[in-house]
Amino acid sequence: MLELTWLGHSCFSIATGKHSILVDPFLDDSPAAPCKSGDVNADFILITHGHFDHIADAAKIAKRTGATTVSNFEISQWLARQGVKETVGMNLGGGVTFPFGRVKMTIAHHSSTLPDGTPGGNPGGFLMTLDDEDIYIAGDTALFSDMQLYAPAVLDLAILPIGDLFTMGPEDSIDAIKLLKPNRVVPCHYNTWPPIAQDVKAWAESVRSQTKAIPETPRPGGKITL
Ligand code: NI
Ligand code: MN
Repeated sequence: MLELTWLGHSCFSIATGKHSILVDPFLDDSPAAPCKSGDVNADFILITHGHFDHIADAAKIAKRTGATTVSNFEISQWLARQGVKETVGMNLGGGVTFPFGRVKMTIAHHSSTLPDGTPGGNPGGFLMTLDDEDIYIAGDTALFSDMQLYAPAVLDLAILPIGDLFTMGPEDSIDAIKLLKPNRVVPCHYNTWPPIAQDVKAWAESVRSQTKAIPETPRPGGKITL
């Protein structure tokens, strides 16, 4: 059994029973976070791209916990320069089998400059296979039709941004769900700040009426099990 906790914005914690996997840690300065970076456990930290709202607390948490970071190659080198000891640098289309399961880095149409202005390589997403569950984390991205190529025959869960402005908005996320055909879908990257405020109840209603996916809309700190 997997337990997925939304920590606000695009930050998620996935507990497999054996491992804790943290995705896009942005807690200490996030108005939507239900906890601080010092409160979370991590064995692995996955980072989709270099923007502060996805990487702000990554080095801090990795150094405290000894977690291994998983990101693109440029970001892995930047984290190593911040003193992170265990980094795995990958690139688009590549996959790695970790003790907790397999992770493939997928395309995202976005940008990736790091907080200090260092070029952060290409933005990405992650397709993960954990305990026979296939989870697609789109990352910050626009809608793109090749998304459908990533979806396995049964995609258990898709995590998609819906905030608009910086990423796809609610309408494009419905088209993404039609391409991916996930069993369940969790929205993210919304309601952190006023410019990405969204009516998540209306979004969930659109998901139910226009797709076969089940929308899951935890509050920050809320969990879903897989
Ligand atoms: Ni971004
Ligand atoms: Mn972002």
